[in-house]
Amino acid sequence: MDISGKVAVVTGGGTGIGAAIAEELSKAGARVLIAGRRARRLEETAARIGAEGGQVAYRVTDVGIPSECEGLLKEAERRFGPVDILVNNAAIKCHGRPIESHSVEDWDQVMDINVRAAFLLTCGVLPSMKSRKTGFILMVSSESGMVYYRDQSIYGLSKHCMNALVQFILAEAKDFNIHAVALCPGLTDTEMGLGFSPPAPENCLSAKVVAACARWVISQPDKINVAQPLAVCNMWDPWKTTP
Ligand SMILES: NC(=O)c1ccc[n+]([C@@H]2O[C@H](COP(=O)([O-])OP(=O)(O)OC[C@H]3O[C@@H](n4cnc5c(N)ncnc54)[C@H](OP(=O)(O)O)[C@@H]3O)[C@@H](O)[C@H]2O)c1
Repeated sequence: MDISGKVAVVTGGGTGIGAAIAEELSKAGARVLIAGRRARRLEETAARIGAEGGQVAYRVTDVGIPSECEGLLKEAERRFGPVDILVNNAAIKCHGRPIESHSVEDWDQVMDINVRAAFLLTCGVLPSMKSRKTGFILMVSSESGMVYYRDQSIYGLSKHCMNALVQFILAEAKDFNIHAVALCPGLTDTEMGLGFSPPAPENCLSAKVVAACARWVISQPDKINVAQPLAVCNMWDPWKTTP
């Protein structure tokens, strides 16, 4: 897709990987609406992208609330027009405990934010994308969606679900020229990634590199379908200080 002039919505766009993707898309000429719960982080990111000449806006949104997902897409359409690129990036983690220690609330929170929101936003953009025969839906998934790390069961399941959702989107919407990709980064230098206090943070991926991969995959010609899921892995182990 030629990103220039396209309308993009990036959830979790105020920080980390989402902010870096918003910046990359803006540099490629997209008009970008970023969303998250913290107004200050959104404002700072929007100001930075705006200062670089980008057309960017933000909307305070809790994607765990269905009506707010709907409001986000309406805001994008009102400000910029129909959404061409949806980046489902917002997520929370739920790490460090064995399967049986989780509560129903843990399950609901993670699934509502990481999976249901991605599903609802996808439902919201598909009709217009189908009628216009163009669209790109990027799921920022995780390496945890490709492997089965211990003590990450609910988060891992949520990421496996995102990868599966991509396959369902492709099965139903590929013929409408709608692309969908699950991007699966390894440990990355963001609030979420560094929050695990890896002993070798210098071995983490950078959000900028993950965002550059996102831009690369979105900007492929229409006839290309990159193999799923798309992994961006750590070459060096952030959990070990020695090579
Ligand atoms: N960092 C890593 O090592 C790593 C590795 C693989 C995959 N990922 C994935 O990358 C994505 C981005 O994470 P990150 O690493 O960039 O960490 P991050 O900076 O903590 O980003 C998470 C974003 O999600 C937003 N968010 C969380 N709950 C939300 C809600 N209910 N409504 C709206 N927005 C919400 C947060 O904004 P607010 O708090 O302001 O709402 C924040 O901007 C996530 O999907 C994560 O699973 C990260």
